[in-house]
Amino acid sequence: MSAGVGGTAAVLHGLGERLVLEEVRWSEPAPQEVLVRIEASGICRSDLTVSRIDNGFPLPLILGHEIAGVVERVGSAVTSLSPGDHVVACPVNHCGRCRSCRIGEPFRCSDHAATQRRADEEPRVSADGRSLTQFIGIGGFSTHTVMHENLVVRVPRELPFHVACLLGCGVATGLGAALHSARVGPGDTVLVIGCGGVGLNVVQGARLAGARRIIAVDRNPAALALATELGATEALQADEVDVVAAVKEITGGGVSHAFEVIGVPDTVGQAMDALRKGGTAYLVGVQRPDAVLGIPFRHFFEQKGIRGVAMGSTVPHVHIPEYADLYLQGRLYLDALVANRIPLADVNDGFDRLLDGALARSVIEF
Ligand code: APR
Ligand code: ZN
Ligand code: ZN
Repeated sequence: MSAGVGGTAAVLHGLGERLVLEEVRWSEPAPQEVLVRIEASGICRSDLTVSRIDNGFPLPLILGHEIAGVVERVGSAVTSLSPGDHVVACPVNHCGRCRSCRIGEPFRCSDHAATQRRADEEPRVSADGRSLTQFIGIGGFSTHTVMHENLVVRVPRELPFHVACLLGCGVATGLGAALHSARVGPGDTVLVIGCGGVGLNVVQGARLAGARRIIAVDRNPAALALATELGATEALQADEVDVVAAVKEITGGGVSHAFEVIGVPDTVGQAMDALRKGGTAYLVGVQRPDAVLGIPFRHFFEQKGIRGVAMGSTVPHVHIPEYADLYLQGRLYLDALVANRIPLADVNDGFDRLLDGALARSVIEF
């Protein structure tokens, strides 16, 4: 047993239950791991989902995966990070050795075990001698974490922690969908259906890429107001207008890129219908893995395409420092995405706000 460090974590003991603050203990980092003191932790919708629906993560579980903090200790084999570095976590879990990783597609790596400790090793984090699971190997609703170095990206010190934490998940997923998955460019016309935490960043990505038109669609007028602030050129309120007809009129026939950022079959259909000939729909919203989408063949006759997108095709150690730089230059807007800054003890209130339909993030500060 190693010395490690003690602290506090919000722990989930049963699906649908409230998180409970507990004293926990982290072990010393293994050779390729780092111990991070967490300064800020965003509450993402997938934390809420996993707290309510079984996703295969053994309980008790420390949720949270959008973190920013300071490296306190590094394992003996870590060469790219040092104590004192400011870092964020990125849940693009990747081994670094497989073909996908080596050709620059870590978001397609499937060797997720490579960055976790084996069951016969000392657990990274435990309470009263019982091991706890870290969500996605991060476990961010806690004062500290021990993570594999592949999930840890250094960021500039000037970046405030409460916005830095968003970079690894919500921002990377949305910006990356536009910039890297779809490679939007000048002259393109973009439709974003669903302007929540992720969709708003698709809007920003399209703005940064120089898209000619960025049409935001949402049911919630507050989401549309934020989308306009972040770069949408038009905003359409779903349920009040015929979205497909309006998009065709605005663009003179349809968009080149349509992003579905909700995760429901109806809006996938809308995305396909709103494309011009040869356009592509990008499915960013997550649906049940066995959901079946009925796509009329006429779309393919019109040479339209449809693509799945995961984690915005993010290459963490390349893209996240670039996003940090864009923020520091004032070109990437993150402050508008943070609605509430709360202490760890209020984490359950943060979940309640998501259930109430809040758009912008609650961020826990330590
Ligand atoms: N039509 C238009 N807008 C809708 C509709 C609808 N039928 N249903 C929901 N919305 C809007 C909501 O008002 C909200 O603004 O979609 C947005 C969804 O945003 P969030 O709930 O904040 O979800 P977000 O975190 O952005 O994630 C969206 O992307 O990465 C995935 O897993 C994630 O499937 C999820 C999706
Ligand atoms: Zn790999
Ligand atoms: Zn997330």
